[in-house]
Amino acid sequence: MIGIFDSGVGGLTVVRAIMSYLPEYDITYFGDTARTPYGTKSAETVAGYTIENIDFLISKGAKIIIVACNTASSIATEYVNGKYDVPIFEVITPAVEMATAVSKNSAIGIIGTRATIRSGIYKKKIVKINPAAKVYSEPCPLLVSLVEEGWLKKPETAMIVKKYLHPLKVRQIDTIILGCTHYPMLKDVIQRKIGKRVNIIDSSLAVADKVKTFLKNRPEIEASLTKNDTSRIFVSDVTDQFEQAARYILNRKVLLEHVRR
Ligand code: DGL
Repeated sequence: MIGIFDSGVGGLTVVRAIMSYLPEYDITYFGDTARTPYGTKSAETVAGYTIENIDFLISKGAKIIIVACNTASSIATEYVNGKYDVPIFEVITPAVEMATAVSKNSAIGIIGTRATIRSGIYKKKIVKINPAAKVYSEPCPLLVSLVEEGWLKKPETAMIVKKYLHPLKVRQIDTIILGCTHYPMLKDVIQRKIGKRVNIIDSSLAVADKVKTFLKNRPEIEASLTKNDTSRIFVSDVTDQFEQAARYILNRKVLLEHVRR
């Protein structure tokens, strides 16, 4: 089974991408809804949650873990690197590789939670690949709540997105990374407001592509993944709101299982 977690519904965009790129494998998702959001918490706290979440997914039988949260990926993966036998994927590196490959003018924008942007991890990784790149970042703290509320098509959301993107738009970026797994739900409005010539890098697709290539090259790990058409969704707080959002993102009925935190 492939284990995936995020602080809330956002990581389900990664589940959706994995289901589409690798439909044969079982998935177990954990949404830490009782402790969301992670983006406003300290690195130490998020690292502690990350370790608990990985341990939980391994206890359920995960043979691969995807940290489907940019906040946890940016501030916690260094704490877990080398601690586990199972391969652990984060969502930042695949998005950076994709962005640097498609950008023509090397002017790249990043949007994410405050914690992700404050970590500076995207800029560090982009400049490592392309030292001449110009990287512009904008924290968009309201967007996670708007997605969690299901306000995807509201005019107020479009207005807020426009305001957040303005500083990036004036920099003439040609590529923007959605540095938060909640943001693919707002892809249409982001594309409208940033302009149709700007490439949007969706980290959920980037990581799914990376895992697919990895499994091709590691048949022993591929063989250890179960394929019983069984996917499970665990949450630390069961809410109607999560259920609705999950149904919307995955386009299917979902059964939520509660795990206490
Ligand atoms: N989905 C998380 C991320 O990718 C953000 C949500 C949160 O702040 O907990 O960063």
